[in-house]
Amino acid sequence: MRIAMIGAGYVGLVSGACFAEFGVDVTVMDVDPDRIEGLHAGRMPIYEPGLDKLVAENVKDGRLTFTTDLAAAVKGADAVFLAVGTPTRRGDGHADLSYVYAAAEQVAKAADGPLVLVTKSTVPVGTGREVQAICRRVRPDLPISVASNPEFLREGSAIGDFMRPDRVVIGVDDEHATTVLRRLYRPLYLIETPVLAVSIESAELIKYAANAFLATKITFINEIADLCEKVGADVHDVARGMGLDGRIGRKFLHPGPGYGGSCFPKDTLALARTAQDAGSPVRLVEATIEVNEARKARMAERILAALGPAHAGKRVAVLGVTFKPETDDMRDAPSLVILPALVAAGVEVTAFDPQSAHARQALPAAVHFAETAVAAVQGADALVVLTEWNEFRALPPGRLKAAMKGDIILDLRNVWDPVAMRAAGFTYSSIGRP
Ligand SMILES: NC(=O)c1ccc[n+]([C@@H]2O[C@H](COP(=O)([O-])OP(=O)(O)OC[C@H]3O[C@@H](n4cnc5c(N)ncnc54)[C@H](O)[C@@H]3O)[C@@H](O)[C@H]2O)c1
Repeated sequence: MRIAMIGAGYVGLVSGACFAEFGVDVTVMDVDPDRIEGLHAGRMPIYEPGLDKLVAENVKDGRLTFTTDLAAAVKGADAVFLAVGTPTRRGDGHADLSYVYAAAEQVAKAADGPLVLVTKSTVPVGTGREVQAICRRVRPDLPISVASNPEFLREGSAIGDFMRPDRVVIGVDDEHATTVLRRLYRPLYLIETPVLAVSIESAELIKYAANAFLATKITFINEIADLCEKVGADVHDVARGMGLDGRIGRKFLHPGPGYGGSCFPKDTLALARTAQDAGSPVRLVEATIEVNEARKARMAERILAALGPAHAGKRVAVLGVTFKPETDDMRDAPSLVILPALVAAGVEVTAFDPQSAHARQALPAAVHFAETAVAAVQGADALVVLTEWNEFRALPPGRLKAAMKGDIILDLRNVWDPVAMRAAGFTYSSIGRP
């Protein structure tokens, strides 16, 4: 089998490398020449654990190549996957489908034989039909099967998620697309991965419904955490007690400063817009979006309140700014709301993140970056944990205390034990714990 992956981002590059690992011949194509040049030189454009090794091995074995030439990538391919971005369209919250439609048109023009055009990007219901219409208009001479194959990988564990997914969803309209996609995912049959073949509309909606449900689950436990603080309960005990109920499940019941990232914020918003347009609003999802947005702003207020009324000029160390650990992705990270609010209030912010490459450009220039966690807290009045990188868990409280000027810790990810931190002399607060 030979495939082309259009887009060399978090999804395209990881899926391309994983398909190559399955034994498929893969060409990953991107419009960004720097990205492709870097990949030719063995440099990864993103941080994803294990990706450099997987890419290097498959390049060496001759199954994985990179190009900026779309026609060359599409030539002779059995299937072409679209893995381009679908960010929020400026102004109205709908998904911006211009990259998907542009890529679909270019692929159809370049096709030199029958192929399956698969949308892996997260796209609203109806996009697949529009892609079909584009293909028919551009290439009435060629049978192009359009399919949907939403991706569920998580940044930080993307390779494992792709190689051992909970399920594979394929939205298909014809036998040929079904056969090609089932063949591509055949290695997963060995580990008994369910492959759900559904309509294109259902596949498109499954992805949004799943993300909106997870975002709602996080937002639910965040609100319960706030209630725990008011009534003296411990959110971790409450979450465990809830999660042991098989109907609820234990995952995604960890409180924090509000969800962020490249998917949940934009996908909840796009789903809400699609549902409004369809005359069937998803009020629960609308409430989730609103509660989550307000939460991020409230976290900044909480930090300022902990610093006291004379917060201007105080020094705050922030550990972790990416939207979650094990990624360098800053898209819609809570830090993008919280840190500018601190800076605007006159607070001096020094941040540390193990993957700060994109963070330095995304955050205000006034935010200083330290090279280590301990250097960041040096002389700080307060310490805020925003992203739960594993290396923060093991920081000795005594070392932090000795380095800091003040004693305030706001642990917005509950990485530390309140008893141990208070015993070390900190004024410690976390989320939803007495
Ligand atoms: N990041 C995730 O964790 C994740 C998980 C599941 C699904 N998704 C979805 O997958 C899609 C891609 O997300 P991502 O995070 O990989 O995005 P990304 O921004 O990391 O990568 C997109 C890439 O597409 C390239 N591109 C844009 N237009 C192109 C064109 N016409 N031809 C070739 N390349 C083009 C860009 O240069 C970029 O490198 C989105 O729809 C997203 O919602 C993302």
